[in-house]
Amino acid sequence: MNMKKRLSLLLAAMLLVSVVLTGCGGQPQSAPPAPETPPADSSGTAQPADDGGFAADATIGVALPWLGTQNWAEADEMFKTQLAAAGFKPIVQHADNKVPQQQQQIESMIQNGAKVIVVGPVDGSQLGAVLEEAAAAGIKIIGYDRLLENTTAVDGVVQFGSVKTGELQGQALLDGLKAQKGEGPYNIELFGGGPADPNAPNFFKGAMQVLQPKIDDGTLLVVSGQTDFTQCATMDWDNSKAQARMDALLSGFYADKEIHGVLSPNDGIARAIITASEQAGQKIPVVSGLDAENESVEWVWSGRQYSTVAKPTDVLVGKTIEIIKSLQAGKGMPAPDTTVNNGKIDVGVYELPPLVVTKENAKEAFANDPGRMALLK
Ligand code: BGC
Repeated sequence: MNMKKRLSLLLAAMLLVSVVLTGCGGQPQSAPPAPETPPADSSGTAQPADDGGFAADATIGVALPWLGTQNWAEADEMFKTQLAAAGFKPIVQHADNKVPQQQQQIESMIQNGAKVIVVGPVDGSQLGAVLEEAAAAGIKIIGYDRLLENTTAVDGVVQFGSVKTGELQGQALLDGLKAQKGEGPYNIELFGGGPADPNAPNFFKGAMQVLQPKIDDGTLLVVSGQTDFTQCATMDWDNSKAQARMDALLSGFYADKEIHGVLSPNDGIARAIITASEQAGQKIPVVSGLDAENESVEWVWSGRQYSTVAKPTDVLVGKTIEIIKSLQAGKGMPAPDTTVNNGKIDVGVYELPPLVVTKENAKEAFANDPGRMALLK
């Protein structure tokens, strides 16, 4: 390269640097950075910007409801390792489905100086007092997977769309019936999850948005007549209670009838329903599910369970940690995707898309999940 060319390259580079430094608007280099617009809350009122953030090695509390389904066991493990990897001090606990135990655990997270407490509530509406105490201490509160109800002390909720999840379950049941049980009308029964969990009525509501018109037009027949959430709910998401209800439905209403399909709110309950049906000598009905639990992924692959819904825990935990990092850096809560009224306030919701999985799309659905992929054989 000759001298002249080198000089003109150098000049061009200097020009580029000065453009980058001053910005296209040609602001003087010494101009202070523009003040950040304070985030608005759901009512549109401006909130003061969180300027301070907190220490990069702060304590973060995670209060999980129980470890009774695979998603919660995964969350327990992922929060411990990923919060530690991000430099935080995690306190991750589960409450064995007991409200007082969860209240005490959150209380002790407050005493231990947690800067953020992530909560998957046992009962969405029973934590108001302890969460309000946490908020008064300046702690940020993030609902995880489940909504925190009837309290002002919640800064946001991270979850897979819960009504959407129910719609997918209802649609999968309809699709499965058409694919596997010939022409209707179809005999079906409906199951819901634990009534204290705010997701459970939402899953049921979403499913009924799809199923009710088909009940009304006679395509679907709920032989027991039990179509209210309260009649169909499964206390504490307890699989054995669901199995007992299924046994009773089969002996009470299906002694001389085939059951074609069952709406199930998650995989554990789906397996209980399928087991009860097999034991009663029924052909396996079309059953929906949720969580893509390992055992149900195998059952979907072998054709024993019709569908599940994947809501990958790593994505939900990753999103939660992203929010915690934003709070740590003093940037406040990121803008939510939507808001949901929790009985007291509109709560910002970071909503992720659930995905229905049947045998047909299982390989695509789990392409990035080597653990579940290995079950498809
Ligand atoms: C979760 C489901 C889970 C259920 C029971 C719900 O809140 O969204 O993934 O199966 O709790 O643990």
